[in-house]
Amino acid sequence: MPEHFDLPAQDTDRVFRIGLLTDIHFGNDSLRARQELAFCRMDSLGLRLLCLMGDIVDNALSDNYETARRLVNKLNTPMLALTGNHEVFPLSLPVEACLANFRTGMGRPRHYAWRYFDPYLFVFLGIDQREPHLPKTRRDTGTSEQQLQWLRATLQAHAQTPTVIVSHAPLENTVEDSDHFPLAASSQLYDILGEAPQVFLWLSGHTHLPDVHCGESLKTAVALGSGCTFVHVPPVADYYVHVIKGDRQFFRGGEDLQTRLLTCHPDRIEVQTYDILANALQPMVTVRPTIRRASAA
Ligand SMILES: [Fe+2]
Repeated sequence: MPEHFDLPAQDTDRVFRIGLLTDIHFGNDSLRARQELAFCRMDSLGLRLLCLMGDIVDNALSDNYETARRLVNKLNTPMLALTGNHEVFPLSLPVEACLANFRTGMGRPRHYAWRYFDPYLFVFLGIDQREPHLPKTRRDTGTSEQQLQWLRATLQAHAQTPTVIVSHAPLENTVEDSDHFPLAASSQLYDILGEAPQVFLWLSGHTHLPDVHCGESLKTAVALGSGCTFVHVPPVADYYVHVIKGDRQFFRGGEDLQTRLLTCHPDRIEVQTYDILANALQPMVTVRPTIRRASAA
């Protein structure tokens, strides 16, 4: 049964919540009411951190970021933003110029980062490269060599720390349709993951898929043999493309507005679906670290 909670959940040193919002698309005025409600509700939950998982704006232009800042500046919750493919649009603007607009627009020093919240390391990956030579579905989801090197080094430096990765687009074959909308560097990222058994949870958005499509539950949480669980985060935007028998079809979503919350305990992370309209939480999946931090043993 959904859990209604009008007051912020208890946030002690040992238990805390991290909230996620993805595919917000500031600049698309038809989404204004959804954007405002999503920010207002997330800000009322007493979160340790609100992560904006990319496609925060429709285009990396100053007017889009101005719209974003109107809500971001009102947040009382600590916020961290990473880049999606729309943060490196329009194609008429060089990627470096787009990323500079992101840094200025969101007030962030960089488009990827890590944070440590005892006992977990959270790694946030941003899209920062175009791949014009690749098929259309992965031209926009590149990861620079510089960022891949940073990721390798970060994971090596925290090899004993249970780790969660958040990225805009999914790794190939990890959530419904992710083979059609994957991170372009999926194969390199799988190699990096293979050397980082401490990564036990990976969250992504980008596909815009809701949890239920035409009455049918979609595959939005996948545990691969590696010990890592991959979870899809539904969008703030209300439209999506779903690949059906090889064809990409456009759908307008219903009234649903859902996202995910992570309730982090010392020994587990409870991934929950947060129904923003109903202000209700529903359990989704509980994941446990594949390693325990040495100092916490
Ligand atoms: Fe996207």
